[in-house]
Amino acid sequence: MLKGKSILGLQDMSKQDIITILDETKIMKKHLLKDEKAMDTLKGKSVVTLFYENSTRTRTSFENACKFLGANVTSISVATSSVNKGESLLDTGKTLDAMRTDLVVIRHSMSGAPAYLDKNINALVVNAGDGMHEHPTQALLDMFTMREHFGKLEGLKVAIIGDIKHSRVARSNIYGLQKFDAQIKLFAPNTLLPQGIQQLAPVCESVEEAIAGSDVVMALRIQLERQQKGLFPSVGEYVKFYGITEERLKLANDNAILMHPGPVNRNVEVDSACVDGEMSKINEQVLNGLAVRMALAKLMLKGE
Ligand code: CP
Repeated sequence: MLKGKSILGLQDMSKQDIITILDETKIMKKHLLKDEKAMDTLKGKSVVTLFYENSTRTRTSFENACKFLGANVTSISVATSSVNKGESLLDTGKTLDAMRTDLVVIRHSMSGAPAYLDKNINALVVNAGDGMHEHPTQALLDMFTMREHFGKLEGLKVAIIGDIKHSRVARSNIYGLQKFDAQIKLFAPNTLLPQGIQQLAPVCESVEEAIAGSDVVMALRIQLERQQKGLFPSVGEYVKFYGITEERLKLANDNAILMHPGPVNRNVEVDSACVDGEMSKINEQVLNGLAVRMALAKLMLKGE
């Protein structure tokens, strides 16, 4: 029952809603694989993307997803919009409402900005990443990628390695995967672990311990721009103790996969050879991201 609902996070999304989205994504992926990119499912619907932070994958895939389904899509470039003249998020939202917008896809540096917008406008809202809070569509495409490869999510052993503290991707994946009883292990420098994270999932002592026996190795981007804040001694040190290498990946289960939400810092969080290696699902994740966003837009605006 996703019609007419905003998508703000996976913490409060029901398991059944996640299953509905993943099932619809399977249908959308079939369309994409047949190169069907001119449907009229969302004809007459108006979608606006409003990104206050940089993006390549999320923004482009939402825009293409909605266009492939026949919606009118407008992209607001915050850098050249009236936001730069001091317009508030609320006034921007009300302006989009006045333009008869059906769906606003928002990325914002402030946790809670999508929820605030949702409370105050008529259009439906999708959270495309808010601060350090959630990135639900990334986690949904990650879960779809895992389910497609393994045929199930239940009981999967998932190692999440990298900058967990700043990662909305990690949080959404933990919330989503735990609804399916996946077993999650975490590993990061202590400075890149949020306080109290052990209550959500166990933290390992080494990268080897995290990878050993895992079905999924999910690397997270090291946010090099934060390196000035001295969160770890050096990139070289990070690679030595936390980097994912071909040798370390041998510790994972047979048939294990390597994932990364992108963008990747090659040879930092993951060896370049692994990014392009046989275990890597990184490009497949991008395709699945397009399919999941088609599924969401259809379910929210049109129903099942
Ligand atoms: N994974 C992800 O959110 O990528 P972008 O920042 O390019 O959208």
